[in-house]
Amino acid sequence: MTARILPPSVPNIALAAEEIRRGQVVAIPTETVYGLAGAAFNKSALIKIFEVKERPSFDPLIIHVPISNLERLAGMGLIDLDQLSGAARQRAEGLAQAFWPGPFTLVLPKQPAVPDLATSGLPTVALRMPRHPVARAVIEQSGTPLAGPSANRFGRISPTSAQDVLEELGDRIAYILDGGCSEVGLESTVISIDYSGALVLLRPGAISASEIERVAESPVHLPSEQAASISGAPRPRSPGRLEQHYAPQKPLYLLPAPLTALAQSDSLSCSGASGLPEELPSHLGLLVVSGDAGTAAAKLARLTGREITAKSLSSKGDLEEAARNLFSALRSLDTSAAQLIFAERSTVHEGLGYAINDRLRRASVTKPMLE
Ligand code: TXA
Ligand code: MG
Repeated sequence: MTARILPPSVPNIALAAEEIRRGQVVAIPTETVYGLAGAAFNKSALIKIFEVKERPSFDPLIIHVPISNLERLAGMGLIDLDQLSGAARQRAEGLAQAFWPGPFTLVLPKQPAVPDLATSGLPTVALRMPRHPVARAVIEQSGTPLAGPSANRFGRISPTSAQDVLEELGDRIAYILDGGCSEVGLESTVISIDYSGALVLLRPGAISASEIERVAESPVHLPSEQAASISGAPRPRSPGRLEQHYAPQKPLYLLPAPLTALAQSDSLSCSGASGLPEELPSHLGLLVVSGDAGTAAAKLARLTGREITAKSLSSKGDLEEAARNLFSALRSLDTSAAQLIFAERSTVHEGLGYAINDRLRRASVTKPMLE
């Protein structure tokens, strides 16, 4: 099978919806990344999603919904609001109203009708209402909520264009709806809420923890912080948040500091703690978050004496632009002649800078060098 990339015309959207009603899976654009959509209550569609992605069954899916009203989502058999205290329910409703449609996913107690396959047997389900008009049209016309993981093979870089999906899954699915390049470029922020209303950030994204705290009027915990605050309790499960994820095929190393701050003495060819090979290969890839790619390449060439292929995520240092370009830059370095990639991290440690650094850390083979 070779997938066809379809422009998002009215008949093509109707075709995608029809395929989904028949239990097939179709790649669709969203504002974050492209998703592989299938009917959320259809077990054979869910099995197809896991097979096509080669995704392990312990990694639960996000379900894409057509509305932001939690009571109506409960009426659709998705979530069980009785398992939340009154305050938690109000908080969840406030978050859904504030951030949907958009790059925001809420993990809530599920109803038994949601197949265990979709949630990997967890008592909770992750919901998101996307804002991309093509995604919304497909959800509405299929007449069902859609399970939709990112449309990449498991462990690979998420796709931000129809062409990326073709490279990832072109031999396994029939249709890819083309909605242009993803506007955000990073997967949605994932937040869980428990009975008492406590919020845990399971995945950083474009909606920042501080924006969420402002709306919820409550702190957002990181998984490890929450574990620390409940003495003796095990780490809360954030399945699918495997340490290494989003990986390019070439080894990627995080630079210990912005390239401009690196000196000759910060040897980039030492092995040992950094895990770098004894001798650097002849051609290096370089990813910088901001500034001019040519200047960065020249600096790394001076430091290493190697040939460099460099990508800058945003020459003017705009974080939204950087997020939008991150995955396509990683893909292009991965297919370049470079044998090893160095990546600079964002110096901004909240919001999009934090989310970009999270993805870079997961793409890297080691913890930051020289730290
Ligand atoms: O932006 C996005 O969220 C994209 C687009 C296509 O909507 N989707 C996406 O799906 O990134 P996926 O499957 O690649 O990532 C889903 C994340 C995983 O980290 C998974 O562990 C988490 O959501 N997740 C899903 N259900 C969960 C649950 N019940 N509890 C905790 N985490 C959950
Ligand atoms: Mg994914």
